Amino acid sequence: MLKLENLHVYYGNIHAIKGIDLEVQEGEIVSLIGANGAGKTTTLQSISGLIPSKDGSVVFEGENIEKRKAHLITKLGIAQVPEGRRVFTGLSVLDNLKLGAFLINDTKKNIEKDIEDIYEKFPVLKERKNQLAGTLSGGEQQMLAMGRALMSRPRLLLLDEPSMGLSPLFVDKIFDVVKELNKTGTTILLVEQNANIALSISDRAYVLETGKIVKSGDAKILLKDSSIKEAYLGA
Ligand SMILES: Nc1ncnc2c1ncn2[C@@H]1O[C@H](COP(=O)(O)OP(=O)(O)O)[C@@H](O)[C@H]1O
Ligand SMILES: [Mg+2]
Repeated sequence: MLKLENLHVYYGNIHAIKGIDLEVQEGEIVSLIGANGAGKTTTLQSISGLIPSKDGSVVFEGENIEKRKAHLITKLGIAQVPEGRRVFTGLSVLDNLKLGAFLINDTKKNIEKDIEDIYEKFPVLKERKNQLAGTLSGGEQQMLAMGRALMSRPRLLLLDEPSMGLSPLFVDKIFDVVKELNKTGTTILLVEQNANIALSISDRAYVLETGKIVKSGDAKILLKDSSIKEAYLGA
């Protein structure tokens, strides 16, 4: 479904991504783990068309997208839930969701149906639909950010550190929804510093260190890998 080949990304002179190869098959949950500053967010931003790559290719469902504009990439079926949620704090929950459908050319009725689907996944968003997003807790804002991304009906969802700063209860809730989304047909590329939880729900994973993939493979096997345990699982 998604294939990155020899991807290079720079910030000025800083060579942040140094030739990454990465694949996501349709139906998988794949995680990209690594320490702070490894280049995880940059990789996702580059797939989404928010940061240009200098070299290499990004192919989504057979099409080269590395030179495409972000809104066209969203239209093709890729949505990103950004690190730090980035909800529109001064707008209501409902308006945040509606903005997620901005690029979808569909009837009001169908968009309202999508919103109902999101409320089913995240009942708290329905309870708080008229509240300003800025009044939600961190966990609720994460749910809203995910709901907003789902409004563009992605086939591939890019999640950037969904567990960051959340209490264990919310982390469990968020990952239950991620698993459920995957079961109902959404392919997931998950970025996490919390390697333990990421590996435990993923099919495969890649380990990123200072802009390079240093390890990849079956998530269950990586979970038992002693070097990964030492570096990322606090063992
Ligand atoms: N806007 C930016 N300008 C300059 N350097 C950046 C910028 N964003 C990220 N970087 C650098 O790129 C590298 C990768 O960052 P990032 O992708 O945010 O890592 P991660 O998401 O894994 O924590 C880091 O060295 C970071 O300092
Ligand atoms: Mg990041």
